[in-house]
Parts: sequence; structure tokens; C-alpha cells
Amino acid sequence: MDQVQQLRPHVLIFPFPAQGHVNSMLKLAELLCLAGINITFLVSNNIHNRLLRHTNVVSRFSKYPGFHLDHYPDAYDESKVHIAQEIMDLCTALQSVVKPFLKELLSKDPAHGTRKDRPPFSCIIVDGFLSLALDVAEEIGLPLICFRTISAGAFWTYFCIPRLVEAGELPFPGDEMNLPIENVKGMEGFLRRCDLPSFLRVGDLTNPDFNLLLKEALQTPRAKGLILNTFEDLEGCILSHFRTHCRNLYTIGPLHAHLRARLQLQEANSNNSNSNSLWEEDKSCIKWLDNQPPKSVLYVSFGSIAIITRETLLEFWHGIVNSGVRFLWVIRPNSVNVGLGDDVLDSTKSKSKSTPEMELEEATKERGCMVGWAPQEDVLAHPAIGGFLTHSGWNSTLESIAEGVPMICWPCFADQQPNSRFVGEIWKIGLDMKDTCDRVIVEKMVRDLMVERKDEFLHRADEMAKLARKSIEEGGSSFCNLVRLIDDIVKG
Ligand code: UDX
Repeated sequence: MDQVQQLRPHVLIFPFPAQGHVNSMLKLAELLCLAGINITFLVSNNIHNRLLRHTNVVSRFSKYPGFHLDHYPDAYDESKVHIAQEIMDLCTALQSVVKPFLKELLSKDPAHGTRKDRPPFSCIIVDGFLSLALDVAEEIGLPLICFRTISAGAFWTYFCIPRLVEAGELPFPGDEMNLPIENVKGMEGFLRRCDLPSFLRVGDLTNPDFNLLLKEALQTPRAKGLILNTFEDLEGCILSHFRTHCRNLYTIGPLHAHLRARLQLQEANSNNSNSNSLWEEDKSCIKWLDNQPPKSVLYVSFGSIAIITRETLLEFWHGIVNSGVRFLWVIRPNSVNVGLGDDVLDSTKSKSKSTPEMELEEATKERGCMVGWAPQEDVLAHPAIGGFLTHSGWNSTLESIAEGVPMICWPCFADQQPNSRFVGEIWKIGLDMKDTCDRVIVEKMVRDLMVERKDEFLHRADEMAKLARKSIEEGGSSFCNLVRLIDDIVKG
């Protein structure tokens, strides 16, 4: 590292160990590298190995002499994390393994092995779900900025928990999920019980997972600032409420598009892959898409964590096939609960198949493509894609918005429930199918999105995509907020 680089700020970026978090925080890391800032990106040993195996992260970042990929000892097997309980167990395990590691890494002792050739840390950017870093940063006296990788809307509902409890709206008695929720400011009139994040569906306020989540959210104002992967035109009505709690908000999304735009400014016609996938991408689906008519294909993916049952898979499969629409479906390895380690695609290959199952396979051969993991950003940007059946993870939602692709939302857990409500009811760029999974409904929604109301949805999605693009252009809100973030890091 040369002397100029030695004088530049050095930021530790510390994501929660899961695909969606690592993905968006690596995009931020590259944006800061482009501004000449030194970055140490800290992941678990397991995620480190997967990034090395499935991405070009090392060669891609080699052009930034100030970038360093570091890793801490594994605290938990992240591949086992599928449900709320496991997420909470992972958080607990991180507390015991990562806290001491961070203390040593951030310690001002320059003799620390991994830092010998790098300047001392000047700031930490930590995933908002890891308040353990706040304690360490405060102890050492380093400024810390939080980055929540979820939507402002979803995060805002966590902030409103005390108010919901005070007003008697949490926990909710009975199981009538369509009743309105009145005490989340900015969402009165459209938020229902079923649209609250799944973690809030607890019968008992002493539930430890619920309390951990609440504690994490309420600590955010202790940070010097809060970064959100969103943009003002998308969530302005919520952000104004947020600003009453967090004095310094940086809305700099959609990050993947923001990074792409900055890279293109630097290297005209840059079309290099900047995948951060933790699974091997099957690029054959792009060739398959090349042979499909424009806006004709429904892309189906439920993200990196959710698992579904074989029954659910069959409802979706029948519904999609019956709609007559072409489809590209990602079925992640081990993401279907078929019992005893079977893989669903293997299980459908069994010799004793029923006639309906054979028909499904025939239809899939004719107008479908199934892969284990796709290059999703490239898929959504492909002209053949006309709709996205999604679990409403925030990265997927933003990637779809940025490409003007309408969605059918089938939220599984956490922040996905409020996200899908915004898509269906506020932005009106898709349909919210939450809490039902029935082949007749699937078929109807796919036909509505891809055939009957296609133009209407495409038009609105296109308008939103224009706003997303405007936000990351020079002078746009996300562009200016990123400049401000970089200035604040440089000034210290
Ligand atoms: C979950 C949450 O729901 C999300 O909102 C939160 O911020 C992180 O944890 P996840 O299931 O990973 O996320 O979904 P999502 O946020 O949509 O992220 C998935 C990422 O994997 C996306 O960036 C998507 O492009 C990528 N992906 C997914 C692929 O690259 N290929 C695939 O085949 C599927």
C-alpha cells in the first residue's frame, strides 16, 4: 500500500453472515473503494470460502489496493439458517465468537497481525442486526454507522413496537389477521396484522427472539448514522418519520444499480460480472432466456434462506403450468423439505410418477427452465423477463424495481411481509399473495400479472424504475447521499 493510500480512511465493513446482507454490503464496499477509501470486509470463514469458490471477488477487487477480505472463525453453520429460531441462534453464537474477535481486530495495537500493512481503522459500518459491534466501537472510541439491509418500511415497524404494545395492538389476540394496525405512523390505512414482519406474530411479549429483535432495532440511534438501501422517491413517506429517530440517514439505494452506474462512468461499456453469489450460478438459463419472446417469462425464486414444503412446491408448479406462461424457476439445493435429504428434482425423477406429475414435467420441458441458482441481476435485466414470483426479500424487490419487472409476492418471513404490502397496495407494481398457496390462486395471479393486466403493471413498474434511475444519477437523492456519506467518513 502506497503512502497516499496509508493516509486515507480505513473502514471496517461487517455484514450479517447471509447472502442478502453480504451482497448489498459488498456493493457498498466497492462504492467506497471507488472513492479511494480503504476497506476491510469481514465475513465468517464459511462465507469467505464460498465467496472464493463461487465468485470473482478476489480478482474483481484486486484493482482496489485498499480492499482486504478478512474472516473470523465460524460461529454457526449458516447454511442451517432457515427459520426465525435459527436466525436468533446465529445471533447468539455471533455474540460469543465475534465480539472478542472484533475487540482484537479493532484494538489500536498496530502489532495486530492482519493489520500490519494497513492504516488504523477510522470507522465501522456494521449490519444493524449486530449491535454487539456498537459496544466494542464505543469502548474503543471508533465512530460506527449502521447499515440495515431491509426496507425503511419494514425497519420502521420494528421501531414502532413499543407504541404498538402501549396501544394494545401487540400481541394481537385471536387469529384474525386482516384487521388494521393503526399505530405505525405513515402506514395507517393500509397496514394489517398480516403485513407486520413475521417476527411480530408472537402471542407472548416475553418471547426471547422478539425481545432480541426489538433490542437490536432500538439501539440504532446510538450509531453515528444509518445507511438504508432504498431511495427517497420509493419510501419518502416512511423516511420522514424515521428522521425523527435517526438524526443522520443515508438512503443510497438501489445499491446494485448505483454501483453499476458508477462503474460504467469509470469504464465505458463495463459489463463485467459483479456477482456475490454464495452458490454456483447456472448461466445456462441466460441462453435459454435468449430464445424466449420479450416480456414472456415469469422468473420464480424464493431467495437464499426460505425453504418450502413439497406440497407448496406442487401448488406453485401446477398453478404456474396451468397459467400457460413460460417460466424460469430457481430451486436452490436443499430448499424443498421433501424429507431425509432428498432433493425435490430427484424426487420428481422417481420412476413411479403419477399422470399429473408427468404432465408437469412435460410442460416444464416445453416452456420452462429450472436451475439451482441463477445470476439473478442478469436474469431480471433480461428482455425476456415479464414478471417475478418472489418471496419479497429486500434485495430481490429492489433488483426487480430497478429493472421495471412487476412482481407476485409470496412473503415467507421477517421483513418480507411488509415489503409485499408496499408492492401490492402502495406502489401497485404487483400482486400480494401472502399467506395463501393454492394452485388456482397461483394460476390466476400469474395470468393477471403476465397476460390480463400486463400493460398496466409494466407501465407502473417502468415509472418506478425511472425514479430509481433518477435517484442514482448525478444530483439524484441517492447519489448525493452517497457523496455525503463519503465526505463524513473522510472528515471522521
Ligand atoms: C433475507 C431478507 O428477506 C432480506 O430482505 C434481508 O435483507 C436479508 O435476508 P434473502 O432470502 O437472501 O434475504 O432474499 P433477498 O434479500 O432477496 O436476497 C437474495 C439475493 O440473492 C439477491 O441479491 C438475489 O439477486 C440473489 N440471488 C437469489 C441470486 O443471485 N440468485 C438466485 O438464484 C437467487
